[in-house]
Amino acid sequence: MLPQDISAAELDSVMKEYGEGLGVSCGYCHVKDPKTQHIDYVSDQNPRKQAARTMIAMLQYINTTYLSRIGDPRYPTLVTCGNCHQGQTHPPDFEQAH
Ligand code: HEC
Ligand code: HEC
Repeated sequence: MLPQDISAAELDSVMKEYGEGLGVSCGYCHVKDPKTQHIDYVSDQNPRKQAARTMIAMLQYINTTYLSRIGDPRYPTLVTCGNCHQGQTHPPDFEQAH
């Protein structure tokens, strides 16, 4: 899903962005190894990690296929997890102002 050759620093910053977008820490999407009690980042046992993959694919599509057609391509307005999630695991309803 993410590029194979992503640097450790880039991976770290992307993961932090996901966590902040949803208002969670790493363990929300990654499972703990029951033996070592350390987070096993490679494991796919947490279904939220799979949900996140779907979300990442959705965002790539929105940003590259659609938003790239609109506006000045030098300054793309990219949608991030936080645009919908607003720091919550389930995006809040839009409250209309009266
Ligand atoms: C919203 C869910 C989510 C959160 C929160 C999250 N991750 Fe991830 N993480 C993923 C997904 C999805 C992948 C796999 C991406 C892919 O398939 O390319 C991943 C992959 C990784 C990997 C690479 C594992 C491998 O296969 O080599 C590391 C390391 C990692 N995350 C660390 C972190 C750290 C550290 C945090 C907290 C700062 C964090 N993640 C928070 C969803 C999340
Ligand atoms: C276009 C709006 C939108 C964007 C952008 C978005 N999400 Fe979501 N996401 C949703 C909605 C809506 C749900 C709730 C689906 C449901 O509950 O049926 C959701 C659910 C999830 C869930 C499942 C939560 C749970 O506990 O079951 C995860 C994990 C998630 N999103 C991660 C991400 C990540 C990571 C990103 C950025 C890469 C992202 N989302 C970007 C709309 C969005």
